[in-house]
Amino acid sequence: MPSVSLSLAELAQHRATMESMLNNIAPTGSFSADAGSPIDSLALTSMPPNHTVILLTGTTGSLGSAALQDFIDCPSVKRVYALNRSSRSGKSLLERQTEAPVSRPFDPTSPSGRKVVLVEGDITADGFSGVDPELLEEIRENVTHIVHNAWRVNLTLPLDAFGELLKGMRTLIEFAIAAPFCSRFVFVSSISACQNMPVGITAPEAALPIDFAIGRMGYGESKWIGEAMLLRVASETGLEAVIARTGQVAGSKDGPWKPGDWVSLVVKTSMAIGSLPRMDDHCNWVTLDTASGALVDLTLASARGTAAAEVVHIVHPRPIPLESFFEMCGNFLGLPLISLSSWLDQLQLAPESQRDAYPAYKVFPVLKFMEVFGTRGYFPGMVVERGPALSKTMREVEALNAVNVRGWLQYWIKTGWIQPKPRSQL
Ligand SMILES: NC(=O)c1ccc[n+]([C@@H]2O[C@H](COP(=O)([O-])OP(=O)(O)OC[C@H]3O[C@@H](n4cnc5c(N)ncnc54)[C@H](OP(=O)(O)O)[C@@H]3O)[C@@H](O)[C@H]2O)c1
Repeated sequence: MPSVSLSLAELAQHRATMESMLNNIAPTGSFSADAGSPIDSLALTSMPPNHTVILLTGTTGSLGSAALQDFIDCPSVKRVYALNRSSRSGKSLLERQTEAPVSRPFDPTSPSGRKVVLVEGDITADGFSGVDPELLEEIRENVTHIVHNAWRVNLTLPLDAFGELLKGMRTLIEFAIAAPFCSRFVFVSSISACQNMPVGITAPEAALPIDFAIGRMGYGESKWIGEAMLLRVASETGLEAVIARTGQVAGSKDGPWKPGDWVSLVVKTSMAIGSLPRMDDHCNWVTLDTASGALVDLTLASARGTAAAEVVHIVHPRPIPLESFFEMCGNFLGLPLISLSSWLDQLQLAPESQRDAYPAYKVFPVLKFMEVFGTRGYFPGMVVERGPALSKTMREVEALNAVNVRGWLQYWIKTGWIQPKPRSQL
């Protein structure tokens, strides 16, 4: 059985690795030293109000594609450069973009679709690889807001696996500094950066001590380093930084939820086991629509707090018990709930030859951690004040409900991810 917590020696080792990665990629003082053209505040104030040009990364994924649609729906947004890594499947970027699993897929021929410029290329430590230099210059001259959303969403990899992404983030930050009209850099972070929150503490909407972020998820550690890098550039250059520390993003409010995330793995595995796990703590997940709407609101918000960087939690302001989510699933799927430890015992008994039917084995250590420590390490208590203050979407969000859950299950049935049992109510 894998170990679920880190020893003191491991914690110290992780801290040292994180500090060294941050200081290698973004040493203190390095942003002011190599900043390009300073932000031209006079030019900014004289710009027409509709002159908002966004550079958004990772638009082929769930949140990125939903945010792309929400940005282009905003009348004030004139153009969105949608920057994505080079294809690994041989498909064109347009194909990848139109196939994204969202309620409103991208339509390049619609009036709002014509605001989008799809840009294919990789952000590396040395610059932008594969992006036409003229196009890059056009983006640099016009961009007003950069939203860095692309990230490897994998909860089981070690920190090393995120090194290239962090170096790429530095490149993007330098690009922002060198862009004359770029006033704001938004980083889509994660509540996983709070994976080691001491019991009884609610995560503040502020910079976090490194110790809160150290843990078994290299993903959460990498997000903390990204945050720290952005806080550093904000204090050294005055670039407006927004850290959108985002919680679990569920499916769209009316359906699509790309399978692959731990929840989808647990639900599929539950069909094979014949029961769902009973889990404690709260479910402060937001639907894809809420996460996307909030991200767009925060990016375009004119009000700002007094700190150099605005840290905002995109988590549900009115959580429901996590058990209620699984009960709703159970009601629709006709499955009972059993204790998480019995459920994990059954998962361990699953035959090797039938692993496809039990995909939750991929996140076994995560689930084991939840069994021992509760889900709080994954869904820590979060202060939720700045989000509702700055975002209409977050102020008006409804509690997660059976309509949402039914939509996700129906989508998974429609796409063949799960097969309903005869007693399902879907
Ligand atoms: N989903 C959640 O519950 C959740 C919670 C908190 C925070 N977030 C954050 O929200 C953001 C979007 O997540 P998502 O749920 O939309 O994930 P997703 O569907 O997996 O999309 C990830 C996006 O990032 C791109 N990407 C992945 N690895 C990359 C790499 N090494 N270099 C460049 N681009 C890369 C993907 O491109 P390809 O299409 O080429 O793979 C895709 O466009 C991420 O920053 C994530 O950390 C998500």
